[in-house]
Amino acid sequence: MHTDNREHFRRETKELPETFALKGIILDAPSPEKLRIWEEGYVICEKGICKGVYETIPQKYEGIFCIDYGDSLIIPGITDLHLHAPQFSFRGTGMDLELLDWLDQVTFPQEARYEDEEFAKEAYSLFVQEMKKSATARACIFATLHVPATMILTDLLEESGLKVFVGKVNMDRNSPETLCEKSAGQSLSSTRRWLEETEKRNYKNVRPILTPRFIPSCTDELMEGLAQIQREYSLPMQSHLSENPGEIEWVKDLRPDAEFYGQAYEKSGMFGKNCPTIMAHGVYCSFEEEELIKRNGVYLAHCPQSNRDLASGIAPAARYLREGMRVGIGTDVAGGSSLNMLRAMGDAIGMSKLYWRLLDEKIKPLSVTEAFYMATRGGGSFFGNVGSFEQEFEMDAVVLDDSSIPSPLRLSPKERLERFMYLGEERNVRAKYVNGKEIKRYE
Ligand code: GUN
Ligand code: FE
Repeated sequence: MHTDNREHFRRETKELPETFALKGIILDAPSPEKLRIWEEGYVICEKGICKGVYETIPQKYEGIFCIDYGDSLIIPGITDLHLHAPQFSFRGTGMDLELLDWLDQVTFPQEARYEDEEFAKEAYSLFVQEMKKSATARACIFATLHVPATMILTDLLEESGLKVFVGKVNMDRNSPETLCEKSAGQSLSSTRRWLEETEKRNYKNVRPILTPRFIPSCTDELMEGLAQIQREYSLPMQSHLSENPGEIEWVKDLRPDAEFYGQAYEKSGMFGKNCPTIMAHGVYCSFEEEELIKRNGVYLAHCPQSNRDLASGIAPAARYLREGMRVGIGTDVAGGSSLNMLRAMGDAIGMSKLYWRLLDEKIKPLSVTEAFYMATRGGGSFFGNVGSFEQEFEMDAVVLDDSSIPSPLRLSPKERLERFMYLGEERNVRAKYVNGKEIKRYE
């Protein structure tokens, strides 16, 4: 059972056998409209792969190792589709500023500190410890422009067992001297050095992703050079898009050749087509921008807490999802202060209600199932067959225990899932599995 004194009850995580079952109340959302529930189910894992959910263990698997989680909920692993590891250290501060002032006054000076490897070690260790304990199984992470600090981060993440994409950030303009690469050439050669180093370390859990910070930070020459590297190495990319009105105006000035923000990325050949791409935010996409995102299969990382706390605005995430756009959820730490992806689902619903009330009454708010889908299968699909308990999907699972959130009611599994979106904390995460490996378990 859960206890506040949990470190005391912590059981050493053991190597599990190759084949095992988890028993409990199982839920997943293979599509935005479909919530599947097994009131008493067994999800089976073989060599890291999900072999389906059953009401009784099939004959083929009789006698396999089974962990009985009783009344706890078992859901697919959650994907945090967008966050900044170096910003974990100052989360919850500077939150009275809006995006561009927050970047200048708080974020850039703080990220400059990662020049110092001792500081990076300390800060990134704390970040990775918290990620391990959270409900997040997979994540797409920004580091800083510093190669040594980025290697410290990737070593720690590899060790954690989480599956992640990590990007060394590129920025060669409009940034303070302490956090600005000297030229496009220097930024590109650092990027190559980082990629070679990453390749050498032969990581199993960490993969590189190109990370130009956003158009205001990257010269055209840098974007072109990155696109060249993208083609050479067949890399994915992540960046920011149409987050804030001031930012969008700035991009118009910086890139008069582009008809809209997203086209600046597309012109460099990094916007979905032949380059798996995640764009954070998309609060203010124009019609043409939305069409291009859909056509090219660009992922949008919807970051509701960040959009509120940096006064960015309210993204039409519900409409995007219903129009078939690929949408996941990100915490955007430290634009969002919390790593908690359970709460991020509730925040996504909350922001979609404001959108409906204040901006467009035709767009009904996100349902619980839609928010659950976005945080699991929606973002997970960036990693492949990830984010539900369908056959042959990678076996990521999170076990949620709500005994610390008492209620006199007899709640249904769906109601219990919904409560985690509003009341869930790290202490409710009883166990976590990623690709069949046990990352965490409390008795
Ligand atoms: N745009 C460019 N950099 C950042 C960042 O660090 N956070 C957010 N939210 N937006 C950005
Ligand atoms: Fe961000």
